[in-house]
Amino acid sequence: SAKAVILIGGPSKGTRFRPLSLDLPKPLFSVGGRPIIWHSLVALSHVPELSEVLLIGFYDEAVINPFIKEAARDFPNLTIRYLREYQALGTAGGLYHYRDVILKGNPDQIFVLHSDIVCDWPLQQLQKFHASHRGAGTMMAVKVPREEAQKFGCVVIDSDSNQVRHWVERPEEFLSDDVNAGLYIFDSAQIFSVIRDSMDLKLKRAADDPEATSDEQLRLEQDVLSPLAHTGKLFAYRSTSPWVQIKSAASAIPANALILASYKTTNPSLLRRRSPTILAKSRSDYSKARKGPEIVEPCFIHESAEIDDSAKIGPNVSIGANVKIGFGARVKEAILLDNAVLDKNTVVLYSIIGENCKLAPWARVEGAPLVGDKQSIAILGKEVAVLKETHIRSCIVLPNKVLSKSAKNEVLL
Ligand code: GDD
Ligand code: GTP
Repeated sequence: SAKAVILIGGPSKGTRFRPLSLDLPKPLFSVGGRPIIWHSLVALSHVPELSEVLLIGFYDEAVINPFIKEAARDFPNLTIRYLREYQALGTAGGLYHYRDVILKGNPDQIFVLHSDIVCDWPLQQLQKFHASHRGAGTMMAVKVPREEAQKFGCVVIDSDSNQVRHWVERPEEFLSDDVNAGLYIFDSAQIFSVIRDSMDLKLKRAADDPEATSDEQLRLEQDVLSPLAHTGKLFAYRSTSPWVQIKSAASAIPANALILASYKTTNPSLLRRRSPTILAKSRSDYSKARKGPEIVEPCFIHESAEIDDSAKIGPNVSIGANVKIGFGARVKEAILLDNAVLDKNTVVLYSIIGENCKLAPWARVEGAPLVGDKQSIAILGKEVAVLKETHIRSCIVLPNKVLSKSAKNEVLL
């Protein structure tokens, strides 16, 4: 059997995700209509003989528990639990601390997932690949543009055996454009002895060197997997499917598009389950001929959203609960969070609109299309009001602001 651990980090993480993570943990931010980690649960729920998922992190229970309840309802075949670290223990520290809980029931395999990546989660392919070698673990590797590689864990993969020969976390010089994708499967008997050895080594080093700062963190990458690679027991499964890491808030826009595109082909019911209610108000004869607003797929539209018939939505738009979109509005490549109101003739492009935001008639909020790896987006924190005809372009706006003047490329505090 198998179990899964999702590393969700804690409140000191995700700082680049502000202002969206101000009152919501980043792993719970909504893309494709659901929290980021919800999408990985979809994939986990399809793995045979996997019945338990442990979220490990250092957020307060109170912020994680509502999600656990919702997920328990949506994934009745999974037991989902939150294990809280008393402080940040590092990406392997939590695995070590909670090893007894993880190993309870004697699972043969442990999946470990980062909470800030979005992809097609090829878990069963990973399992199959892992079974084909006798290593302690398999990491998923993806190719990134050469100039980007040094932001990640870079790996050198033997092209015949698929063994990871060398792993350097954020190397100072270019090493490889194959990088760690943040998705692993481990042989549970082997990996916990490797983690224990790394912990012992770390404690020994600290004892030998009184000058050493007592850093409590054990890192899966540098402390465990990089040494493991040199023993030939770590393997890489190469994925060529789209993969997005959600670090900055701007990356939520391509992540949203990735999720919507993948559900469109693999699981359209996740987009259709909640269909738009059409605001059937006074329509002109012309618009009577049309059935509802023009929707360019793929989009996720919450069933409680109200969209005027003359609006045009999509592609790649996710619309939350109770959102209202008025006459003649245009929305594309955007995430509209719950209760946002877009009045008539508003335009929202390449943007994230926070909860309870209000856009007055003819307001316009926009970023720009992806150029290379640079995504410029506009982000409104929650409860921002954009007044009539105001044009907000590539700005980050903190919560509760009232914007009456147009602005471009600014952070509005
Ligand atoms: N439980 C727990 N405790 N989780 C943690 C902790 C911790 O102390 N620190 C980080 N995490 C979680 C984060 O929430 C995230 O899901 C994952 O671990 C990795 O986050 P970071 O440690 O911030 O690393 P990174 O994202 O900059 O780089 C990692 O991911 C890249 C792929 O996205 C590395 O593993 C790279 O090698 C990799 O390329
Ligand atoms: P796409 O190219 O697929 O986006 O099609 P589109 O024809 O809908 O073009 P675009 O997204 O550029 O513009 C959408 C609509 O909004 C067009 O009908 C424009 O006339 C209209 N539009 C452009 N600027 C504004 C504006 O500032 N306010 C309002 N209300 N509408 C605008």
